[in-house]
Amino acid sequence: GFSWKLNDHPKLPKGKIIAMIVLDGWGEAKPNEYNCIHVAETPTMDSFKKGAPEKWRLVKAHGKAVGLPTDDDMGNSEVGHNALGAGRIYAQGAKLVDLALESGKIYEDEGFNYIKECFETGTLHLIGLLSDGGVHSRLDQLQLLLKGASERGAKRIRVHALTDGRDVLDGSSVGFMETLENDLAKLREKGIDAQVASGGGRMYVTMDRYENDWEVVKRGWDAQVLGEAPHKFRNGVEAVKKLREAPQSNDQYLPPFVIVDENGKPVGPIVDGDAVVTFNFRADRMVMLAKALEYEDFDKFDRVRVPKIRYAGMLQYDGELKLPSHYLVSPPLIERTSGEYLVHNGVRTFACSETVKFGHVTFFWNGNRSGYFNQEMEEYVEIPSDSGITFNVQPKMKALEIAEKARDAILSRKFHQVRVNLPNGDMVGHTGDIQATVVACKAADEAVKMIIDAIEQVGGIYVVTADHGNAEDMVKRNKKGEPLLDKNGNIQILTSHTLEPVPIAIGGAGLEPGVRFRQDLPGGGLANVAATVMNLHGFEAPNDYEPTLIEVVD
Ligand code: 3PG
Ligand code: CO
Repeated sequence: GFSWKLNDHPKLPKGKIIAMIVLDGWGEAKPNEYNCIHVAETPTMDSFKKGAPEKWRLVKAHGKAVGLPTDDDMGNSEVGHNALGAGRIYAQGAKLVDLALESGKIYEDEGFNYIKECFETGTLHLIGLLSDGGVHSRLDQLQLLLKGASERGAKRIRVHALTDGRDVLDGSSVGFMETLENDLAKLREKGIDAQVASGGGRMYVTMDRYENDWEVVKRGWDAQVLGEAPHKFRNGVEAVKKLREAPQSNDQYLPPFVIVDENGKPVGPIVDGDAVVTFNFRADRMVMLAKALEYEDFDKFDRVRVPKIRYAGMLQYDGELKLPSHYLVSPPLIERTSGEYLVHNGVRTFACSETVKFGHVTFFWNGNRSGYFNQEMEEYVEIPSDSGITFNVQPKMKALEIAEKARDAILSRKFHQVRVNLPNGDMVGHTGDIQATVVACKAADEAVKMIIDAIEQVGGIYVVTADHGNAEDMVKRNKKGEPLLDKNGNIQILTSHTLEPVPIAIGGAGLEPGVRFRQDLPGGGLANVAATVMNLHGFEAPNDYEPTLIEVVD
């Protein structure tokens, strides 16, 4: 039968203190002026590199290596941390939705049939991120869903579109909105009353995460449900074009707007009897809205009016909370993660990050599962993020505070694994501010230094890696790799993640002398890290885990 008990590693001892450090958005790319990690002073990360190939190497962090549909898909934190924590590669949300749409199974399952009940007399509302970024959602999936729902009886459809500019180029919202408006116009020709109803920039409207700032969700609620927003337009394209004209405006932070009819009346508030689908497959930035839509008891903001609707998520966003209770596609079932195994085998764990990445080293790490496996064995610490600012203003973020907490946890000797996420490279990289990203990278490097110093003091081991690339390339490039210019001759800033591999380094006074990276896994990826860390804790990994990256030579 199944047992949580892990076999002892034949050569490696138990009981070592291991720092598991994840630098968010820290890939490896050619050194040049748009590589902020290269430009920044990063002596600690640089020193690891000198240990190659035995103590430093690169691992894949994008595409199929992390369960994404194709190798053109950049990595992201959800799939990266899932792979790191679970030690296996799962077909991820993006892929599962593709398959369900392709086979038509999405229309046969419970979730769709549940919302379909409203099609005769109610409106179908689709709320989500409008882009082809493939991190939270994809435009082509929305298009297929619009087509599929209208062919299956939806007579009145309203889209509540959040503009991106974070997983895709800033300014691309106009094109995506044009595509959407064209599709909706074609549906109207077929007699379906289909329109954009509201919108706003993802970072300002709806898509907050880990309860950093409920105001963001409230702004969305007001526009989507109540039909109230400071800006009113007649269609989505006009809205996005006009709002982008304001100085300093960008897709990520567009203010909320509603679309109104010729009498100035909002065309698509959500009312009793309607169906609602949130079409993002990724959980972290949709689960707050899911709570607002689904929970009867809710005190995060005044919803004013709570319509009686049938609501389904594209996926179920939280398996523990069973939220939402209806969904179109089943999420990947990520079980037996390394965190759960280790807890069952006596490994005491401490995990910490600041709010904006806290769920990454807990929820995502543990296979999209909230809470502790065993509270006696684990401690999770969240440091409040600055809210209401863009992180280029405070590029050091809470790196120092996270490192201090990790240091203290290490020096307390109460834990065997001290796991952190350092958000700087990613969160500041997403702002597209190159100078600030350089400051961010330096801050992350300093945090690493503080943590590994503590590891040296206790005779522990460090494992330093990243979840995906971002700060190492801040410019959009052509196929040849040359920077692309816009109409005005300025470089096109790349706010998104990249396809680059990420470094992994091992070391520390506690690392047995014979431990080194194997040379027979050149294609290794993030999913190989879990077995590696289990070995360093003194255990063999379960058989179905991706192989360990290390070997022990005598
Ligand atoms: C975000 O949600 O901020 C971005 O779309 C993806 O960033 P992350 O995968 O690093 O969280
Ligand atoms: Co990111």
